[in-house]
Amino acid sequence: MSILTVNGLSFSYPSLDVIKDVSFEVMPGEVVSILGMNGAGKSTLLKCINRILKMSSGSVAVSGCDISSLSSRELAQKMSFVIQGSRFSSTSVFDAILLGRKPYIEWDATKKDFEIVKDSICRLGLEDYALRNVTEMSGGESQKVALARTIVQQTDVMLLDEPTSALDLKNQLEVMNIVREEVRRRNVAAVVTMHDLNLALRFSDKFLMVKDRRIYSMGGIETITAGAIKDVYGVDAEIAEVGGHKVVVPL
Ligand SMILES: Nc1ncnc2c1ncn2[C@@H]1O[C@H](COP(=O)(O)OP(=O)(O)OP(=O)(O)O)[C@@H](O)[C@H]1O
Ligand SMILES: [Mg+2]
Repeated sequence: MSILTVNGLSFSYPSLDVIKDVSFEVMPGEVVSILGMNGAGKSTLLKCINRILKMSSGSVAVSGCDISSLSSRELAQKMSFVIQGSRFSSTSVFDAILLGRKPYIEWDATKKDFEIVKDSICRLGLEDYALRNVTEMSGGESQKVALARTIVQQTDVMLLDEPTSALDLKNQLEVMNIVREEVRRRNVAAVVTMHDLNLALRFSDKFLMVKDRRIYSMGGIETITAGAIKDVYGVDAEIAEVGGHKVVVPL
C-alpha cells in the first residue's frame, strides 16, 4: 500500500494557476525527487501536501489517512516538512532540534525525546554546535539542523524542499545518504525537491518531473532521458555513465 497518495490535486494563487490535477503515489522505502524549473510549482505542491496551503481540489492521504481528517498534531506525527531556505528564531541548536519532538510531547520532554535528539545530532555531525545559537550558523549548518529536526519527528513521509541547496559537496552526499538511510531503516518515504540533477539521480528511487503545472513524467531512472531534460528544462544534454552512476551532462 502506498504511504503517500496525491489524487487530482489542483491549486491556484488568486491570479495564478500553479498546479493542475496532479496525482501520484509514493511507496514505503522510496526517495522521490521532484524536478522542474524555477517557478514550476514544486514548493507549492509540497505545501499543499502538508496542508500549509489549502488545495482547490483533490485529496492527499498519508499511510491511508486523508489529511483533511487529521488534527495538526496527528498530521505532524505522520508528515514533516523542511521548507526551502528555512530559518530559525533565536534558540540553541539542541532546542531547535528538540522542537521536532513537539507532536509527541505531552507537557515535558522525556528521556526518550532527549535520546532521539542526541542521536540525530551525532548522525548529522552537529556535536560541536549543539549549544550554539541557531541564528549564528551558516546557511549549510542551518540546513543540517532543519534536517535533524525532521528526522527526530519520525514521520511516515518527509517532505524536503531543497534540503541540500546550501551544502558543500561532502555535506550534500552525507545528508542525502542520511535521508536514504532513514527512509530504508524505518521503511518510510521522502519527497525531495532538488535542482542538482546528478545528486537526485544518485539518491532517488523515483523522479517526478513537473512542467506547465502538470506532471511531465513519474517513474524510475529510465524516465530521465535527454529528451525529458530538453522538454522540462529546455536544455540539450547527454546522459552518461560515470563510475557506475548515471549523470546528466548539459551540452
Ligand atoms: N505567495 C504567492 N502568491 C502568488 N504567487 C506565488 C506565491 N508563491 C509562489 N507563487 C508563484 O507560484 C509559482 C510556483 O512557485 P513555487 O515556489 O511553487 O515554485 P518552485 O517550483 O518551488 O520554484 P523554485 O525552484 O524557484 O523554488 C511561481 O510562478 C511563483 O511566482
Ligand atoms: Mg521552490
